[in-house]
Amino acid sequence: MINLTDLLRPIEGEPHVVIVLGKGGVGKTSTSILISSELSRLGRTLLVSFDPAKHILKYLDISKSAELFRVSDDFFVSQLDIEASAKELTSKYSNLIRDLFPSLSVLNLEDITKALKYAPGVEEEVFLNWLCDVYDMKDFRFVVVDTPPTGISLRTLTLPKLYLLWLEKLINIRERIVSLRYVIAKTLGREVKVSDPALIKLYEMRDRYSKVKEALTNPSRTSFVVVTNPEPLPMYELREVLKFLSEELATNHKLLVMNKVLPEDVAERLGTYEEQKALIDEFVSLPGRSVMIPYISNPPSKLEDILRLREVVVVVRGA
Ligand SMILES: Nc1ncnc2c1ncn2[C@@H]1O[C@H](COP(=O)(O)OP(=O)(O)OP(=O)(O)O)[C@@H](O)[C@H]1O
Ligand SMILES: [Mg+2]
Repeated sequence: MINLTDLLRPIEGEPHVVIVLGKGGVGKTSTSILISSELSRLGRTLLVSFDPAKHILKYLDISKSAELFRVSDDFFVSQLDIEASAKELTSKYSNLIRDLFPSLSVLNLEDITKALKYAPGVEEEVFLNWLCDVYDMKDFRFVVVDTPPTGISLRTLTLPKLYLLWLEKLINIRERIVSLRYVIAKTLGREVKVSDPALIKLYEMRDRYSKVKEALTNPSRTSFVVVTNPEPLPMYELREVLKFLSEELATNHKLLVMNKVLPEDVAERLGTYEEQKALIDEFVSLPGRSVMIPYISNPPSKLEDILRLREVVVVVRGA
């Protein structure tokens, strides 16, 4: 039986975050559960799911989101409640704007908060906020992240870089405003306030996003696992994700997983043998560590079924 934890090394940073990416339905949740269970033998492990469909609850027979559940000794799981978190986040931001800029009372913040619920980008913001917190978790040695659909995940992972560009500009503008205000107050002989809450908040945000940007691109803090199937669309997304990791994050995957590989005779019967073979050949030629998991006739629906997949994992490339 193979040891998946060996394939995830180096895993020195604490907590070490394993982000599992891939097209919908390829087996991200199953792989995340498998990896979490393996890692939990080395230390306290949290598996957190951002999957809006909350499939993890079904696999682990859990009834509620958001709370922390203990699956076994050192294996914990949590399903993020995106809607509740989005609500919390938008009201937090409204309060922040109200506190920082009381003169903005002309804006109806209640209406803005309500409208934000349906605004594009809210899920990405919730995901990013949570990711920022993950790297500060002291209670876990490993955190495995079961991600939402690829588009949302990749957009989220680019946000720190984008935010930092905006923040530099905003900080620049705000610093100019604060220094002008200082000069004017001095000239008029008024009391001068040195600290500016808005500027402090901007510095805090810059610090938070710099840290997560650094952690995401640091292989000792973050491992990316990409899951695919021997089918055209999942393989297309695999290529897109690999391109994204190298071009946008300047990093590499730690492990590739090709799941649901059909036995040759079955593929032949289904008339997909040639197509599957070509995609497997491509997968095998990709650099870095990779494994394959065969298609099993009883699709895993419970924790025990998923853990049994470990017995059939085949290492394609171990180093
Ligand atoms: N090796 C396998 N053989 C057969 N069926 C599998 C295998 N791995 C996973 N499945 C089945 O495929 C389906 C999708 O698996 P899973 O939920 O892990 O994928 P996912 O990528 O997380 O999907 P989603 O994008 O919907 O969250 C499930 O019904 C699961 O039981
Ligand atoms: Mg899933």
